Amino acid sequence: MTTHALPNQHGKTWFITGASAGIGRVVTEQLLAEGHRVFATARRPAALADLVAKYSDQLWTETLDVTNTAVQSAVVNRAFAELGRIDVVVNNAGYGLFGAAEELTDEQVHHQIATNLV
Ligand SMILES: NC(=O)c1ccc[n+]([C@@H]2O[C@H](COP(=O)([O-])OP(=O)(O)OC[C@H]3O[C@@H](n4cnc5c(N)ncnc54)[C@H](OP(=O)(O)O)[C@@H]3O)[C@@H](O)[C@H]2O)c1
Repeated sequence: MTTHALPNQHGKTWFITGASAGIGRVVTEQLLAEGHRVFATARRPAALADLVAKYSDQLWTETLDVTNTAVQSAVVNRAFAELGRIDVVVNNAGYGLFGAAEELTDEQVHHQIATNLV
C-alpha cells in the first residue's frame, strides 16, 4: 500500500468493521496517517485507544460484533449522525475456518457464515 499524504479536505470518510486487529487495524492506521476520517468498529474498541489518542479529530470508534444484527443499524446511524456521510465501507470483520467438513461442527460453520457473509 502506498503512503501518499492527503490533505484533509480531500480525505474521505470510511466505515470499517473488525478494526481491532489484522488488516482492519492496518488499514485504519494507514487511512488516518493519510488524513482520512475513519469510523472504526470492533468487538474490542479499546484496542484502538492508542489511535484515538493520536487522531482524536479523525477517528470515531464503536463496539460492533457483526453477528449482532440487532445493533447494526444503530451503529451505522450513529456514524451518519456524527460524520454526516460515509464514502467507503470496508466490510473486513471475519475469519478463516480450517478443517475437513466432517471435523467441523454445525455451530462453527454457521458462526463463520454469520460473521463473514450474513
Ligand atoms: N489474511 C488473509 O490472508 C486473508 C485471506 C482471505 C480473506 N481474509 C479476510 O480478511 C479479513 C481480515 O483478515 P485478517 O487476516 O486481518 O484477520 P485477523 O487478523 O484475524 O483479524 C480479523 C478481525 O476481524 C474481527 N472480527 C472477527 N469476528 C468478528 C465479529 N463477529 N464482529 C466484529 N469483528 C470481528 C477481529 O476482531 P477481534 O480482535 O475481536 O477478534 C479482528 O479485528 C477477514 O474477513 C478474513 O476472512 C484474510
